[in-house]
Amino acid sequence: MSEAKRLAGEKAIDYVEDGMVVGVGTGSTVAYFIDALGRIRDRIAGAVSSSEQSTARLRALGIEVLDANAAGPLKLYVDGADECDPHKRLIKGGGAALTREKIIAEASETFVCIVDPAKQVPVLGRFPLPVEVIPMARSLVARRILALTGGQPVWRDGVVTDNGNWILDVHNLAITDPVGMETELNQIPGVVSVGLFARRPADVVIVGGEPPLVL
Ligand code: 5RP
Repeated sequence: MSEAKRLAGEKAIDYVEDGMVVGVGTGSTVAYFIDALGRIRDRIAGAVSSSEQSTARLRALGIEVLDANAAGPLKLYVDGADECDPHKRLIKGGGAALTREKIIAEASETFVCIVDPAKQVPVLGRFPLPVEVIPMARSLVARRILALTGGQPVWRDGVVTDNGNWILDVHNLAITDPVGMETELNQIPGVVSVGLFARRPADVVIVGGEPPLVL
């Protein structure tokens, strides 16, 4: 499986242009992309990072990490996913970095998603949907999600996001209307962000393999 992740991560380098500030996601697939980026670090101007974890890896390879506010609009964002449907809509947040990932995806012209074949699904929802919540709203949000979707929210106990918040993982969903569900769950007070990337899906999906599949 990690071989497929490596092949996807390294293929994404094709989208990096000289002088770019590159948006960088989080996770084990992205780690391969960061390592490949390190090998061409003299060609890029720096990176905007979606997590402390990716920031540490980027800096260790000598890549400058820029503040998102200072960097402005980005041409390219590369990130992994927990699930990907045929319309390039995603579930993300398995690594608890969904909010910063969503901010960078929104700020980017092209979102290249790198996955191994196991992440491809016909309908999103087999992977529990991560929702980042303000800690004091955890119970309220869980009750609302249960009532609205029928899915079972489970607190990811012990995990604190880079933003100081908590994660609910919503089990047993069949997400037939990802844009509608993303919009609806975003409205619940206390929700910081929903791990559905449907309003702003990926533009390109690279499925790791020999050779990688570019969708
Ligand atoms: C982190 C994410 C990751 O992209 C997702 O969890 C996939 O991770 P991996 O590449 O390790 O399978 O959304 O919040």
